[in-house]
Amino acid sequence: MTLIDGKATAATIKSEIAARVASIVEGGGKRPHLAAVLVGHDGGSETYVKNKVLACKACGFESTLIRFEDDVTEDKLLDCVAELNADDCIDGFIVQLPLPKHINEQRVIEAIDFRKDVDGFHPVNVGRMAIGLPCFISATPLGILELLRRYNVATSGKRCVVLGRSNIVGKPMASLMLQKQYGDATVTVLHSHSQDLKQECRKADILIAAIGSPSFVTADMVKPGAVVIDVGTTRVPDSSRERGFRLSGDVDFDAVKDIASAITPVPGGVGPMTICMLMLNTLAAAEKKFYA
Ligand code: GUN
Repeated sequence: MTLIDGKATAATIKSEIAARVASIVEGGGKRPHLAAVLVGHDGGSETYVKNKVLACKACGFESTLIRFEDDVTEDKLLDCVAELNADDCIDGFIVQLPLPKHINEQRVIEAIDFRKDVDGFHPVNVGRMAIGLPCFISATPLGILELLRRYNVATSGKRCVVLGRSNIVGKPMASLMLQKQYGDATVTVLHSHSQDLKQECRKADILIAAIGSPSFVTADMVKPGAVVIDVGTTRVPDSSRERGFRLSGDVDFDAVKDIASAITPVPGGVGPMTICMLMLNTLAAAEKKFYA
């Protein structure tokens, strides 16, 4: 069994990005600059954003963190988005999700200039991704593609099962695995209302679990030799940990690791790659790779 090490792969890619940034700056160019907008104090979001700021440092980027309290109005948040859209110093920015219930998340996403939408959540980027045009691709699916590529996992013509249909992971992942220029696989998407879910999972050569349910994928759902990618990061209470919780993947790792030919751990698998791909998207934004 091959352990697909996202942490090590992300470190390699970040040093590749840092080298590129050094050469841009040496040539008189501007350091890429990512801004992150964080609303409230959700523990998971705080951690993600903190790690994004640290990753910026590792890559030689400038970063700006803009914070609002939970009770910020939608108008105030939209004003902030408009300012970031207009600010030439900022190459790309993200609004960390989820947002409080009184804010229309979709309205905020659509207010972001798609040329600065390094999360790849704006409908222009989602649409362009779906038809294979150059664009910002959302970081988690992009990170998974990169892991498969760097670990030489053959995908063309293989059966790929995506568990979960979220806008951030499941849907774009399925779309990318389907496309000839990316996965070129035969793709099945399964979700909470799918029939024969276990049997369908067992047909997968590549199983990508993104349903947010701890240890959902058990040994009997995995074909011997399958490649298993675990996107889950649910916080499970654990009094033996200093933080009071541990991160649990969607896959029962201990049971599945002896059946799979390759598997990502949690933590240290997909998570570090997601942040790393956000850095790559920010570099692309700074270099005007997709849009002038
Ligand atoms: N919340 C969970 N994942 C993400 C992400 O990739 N981007 C943003 N903006 N919010 C998230």
